[in-house]
Amino acid sequence: MKVLIVYYSTYGNVYKMAKLVAEGVKEIKGGEPVVRKVPELTPQSVIESRNDMKAGRDMQKDVPLVTLDDFKDAGAIAFGTPTRFGNVSAQLKNQIDQLTSLWFAGELEGKPAGIFTSTASLHGGQETTILTLMGPLLHLGMILVGVPYSVKELFTTQGGGSPYGPGHIAGLDGNREIDPQEAAICRAFGHRLAEVGLQLQRK
Ligand SMILES: Cc1cc2nc3c(=O)[nH]c(=O)nc-3n(C[C@H](O)[C@H](O)[C@H](O)COP(=O)(O)O)c2cc1C
Repeated sequence: MKVLIVYYSTYGNVYKMAKLVAEGVKEIKGGEPVVRKVPELTPQSVIESRNDMKAGRDMQKDVPLVTLDDFKDAGAIAFGTPTRFGNVSAQLKNQIDQLTSLWFAGELEGKPAGIFTSTASLHGGQETTILTLMGPLLHLGMILVGVPYSVKELFTTQGGGSPYGPGHIAGLDGNREIDPQEAAICRAFGHRLAEVGLQLQRK
C-alpha cells in the first residue's frame, strides 16, 4: 500500500521530516512511502536572492511534484507544512484547494491522514497549524491519525511533536537539526499511518 507523503518546504526542515516519516512507513510490511512536493508559489527572483532558500530548493530538486493520481493511489496520506503565522503554508493549502475533482468524486473518503509541521520557535504554532489543517481533511472525508502517548518520546521531547502530529523546532535561523525525539515521533507517525491504512484496506 502506498503512503503518500506530500509536503511543502522552503528551507528543507519539513523535507527532512518527510524522509523520516517515510522511514516509519517502511517499518510496516506492505508500506510503500511515496514522497512528493507541491508547487512553489514564491517568485523565483525572491528565491534566487536568498542563499537559504536556494539551498532549500536545491536539496529537494529530485523530489517529483505531486499529481492527482498520487492522491488517488495512496492508501494513506501524510501532509507536511512549515508553520506560517500559526497556520498551514499557502503552498500546501494551494495544493489541497486543487483536490476538488477528487473531493466531488469521494476519492479521499475513508483514507487515513495526518499532518506534520516545523516552526522556528517553541510556541510558534505547531498545534494550531495541525489542528487548523485537520478541518479541510475532514471535509475531504479523511480519517485523522495522530501520535498516541504510547510513543514515549511525546513525554520526553524538548523540541516539537504532540499527539496532534510530529513537529520540529528549526530555530530562528532554521538550522536546528531534527533531534532524536522529534525524529522518533516522525517515524512513529509514518509507522502508524501505514498500519492504520493497511488495517482499513483489509475491512
Ligand atoms: C511567512 C512566514 C511565517 C512564519 N510563521 C511562523 C510562525 O507562525 N511560527 C513559527 O514558529 N515560525 C514561523 N515561521 C518560520 C517557519 O515556520 C520555520 O522556519 C520552518 O521551520 C520552515 O520550514 P522549512 O525549512 O521546511 O521551510 C514563519 C516563516 C515564514 C517565512
